[in-house]
Amino acid sequence: MASTPQPVGRFRTLPDYPLAAIPQKKRELAARGVDVIDLGAGDSDLAAPVGVVEALTKAAATPALNRYGFGLGLVAFREAIAAWMLKRFALRIDPLQEIVPLIGSKEGISHLALAYLEPGRLAIIPEPGYNAYQGGALLASGEPYRYALRPRTNFLIDLDEVPDETLRRTGILYLNYPNNPTAAIAPRDYLARVVERCRELGILLVYDNAYSELAFDGYVPPSIFEFEGARDVAIEFHSLSKTYNMTGWRCGWAVAAPHIASVLTKVKTFVDTGQFMAVQAAGVAALESYDAFIPGNIAAFKARRDAAVSAFRTAGFACDTPKATMYLWIPLPGEIPSALFAERLLDDEGVVVMPGSAFGAGGEGFFRISFVTSPARIAEAAQRAGRVLASMGAEVG
Ligand SMILES: Cc1ncc(COP(=O)(O)O)c(C=O)c1O
Repeated sequence: MASTPQPVGRFRTLPDYPLAAIPQKKRELAARGVDVIDLGAGDSDLAAPVGVVEALTKAAATPALNRYGFGLGLVAFREAIAAWMLKRFALRIDPLQEIVPLIGSKEGISHLALAYLEPGRLAIIPEPGYNAYQGGALLASGEPYRYALRPRTNFLIDLDEVPDETLRRTGILYLNYPNNPTAAIAPRDYLARVVERCRELGILLVYDNAYSELAFDGYVPPSIFEFEGARDVAIEFHSLSKTYNMTGWRCGWAVAAPHIASVLTKVKTFVDTGQFMAVQAAGVAALESYDAFIPGNIAAFKARRDAAVSAFRTAGFACDTPKATMYLWIPLPGEIPSALFAERLLDDEGVVVMPGSAFGAGGEGFFRISFVTSPARIAEAAQRAGRVLASMGAEVG
């Protein structure tokens, strides 16, 4: 009799991925004729820049760009990234030594842990937070130390609250501001302090800047490298996904000083053979279209944000106006469990939202919506959510 191969304990520590069950459920509802509004994943319905699509088409028909990219990839993409980092953050980055092209930033974030964690080494992980942090840490056999992001600390990780013994064993601190899912932003003096602490403690600061270009009302998110000493300890992740409505294209990059960038490059040498170079050519077009494309795109997201804040408030929810990201992180009144609320909202009203608990226990008491459809549809979703809130409020009360 055959015996079944069993995954090891490390695999069994992985929680279920929160979005995994949604597509099937959506199909079932749509088949029943329900008008589903999906505000779950941070995956906008807006179009990528036209010039980017043209650049991809042309590059895909170029035989030299159909070959392996390897770690180096398309030098023009590295140069376009360096030019953009200079323009946007006034930072001088060596295109060959200090940039790692990535197949989406998630890929790099999770693979990096393989080099900086092992059994007994901790990763400080914001909870709620993007799933690649704990996924990468667990797959690397590291030990997650979950820090609950709550209004109490303005959704910031206060390292003074982490025990010294924990800090001594910490290999990685994951930070993400502007933040998914809470939409919080980090004050500059906070970031300067965190860099200083990471330098004292020898902790790798993984700064996830996926939302650096989705900001409103004059707020300009910084790069972590604007803070003194960051080059010693930090690696920063960027992505075309949210900035240019290019989630499916899988195109991002990391920036770090050579002693850190080379580590990620080496890990990737053994797990992939480089990003499709035609996508990197399209990435060049995206970065070069920054000035022409971004203002209109931000205006579209701002209209969605404003519609969302106004409609959810009218529907009975308390929510702040976020200065950045494509999310609202909405507190649930009373003791309504977020998973139950999200389930009822989907089953009774056909609206997909992310329950806070899907991001871990630290997210309980909230739910997240994404600005991934039109202002009118977001407003319709808010009305439906208001009906569920009223009925559950009545039940709970
Ligand atoms: C905080 C954060 N970081 C990284 C990513 C991953 O982006 P990419 O599409 O570049 O893998 C996301 C995507 O939702 C995100 O929310």
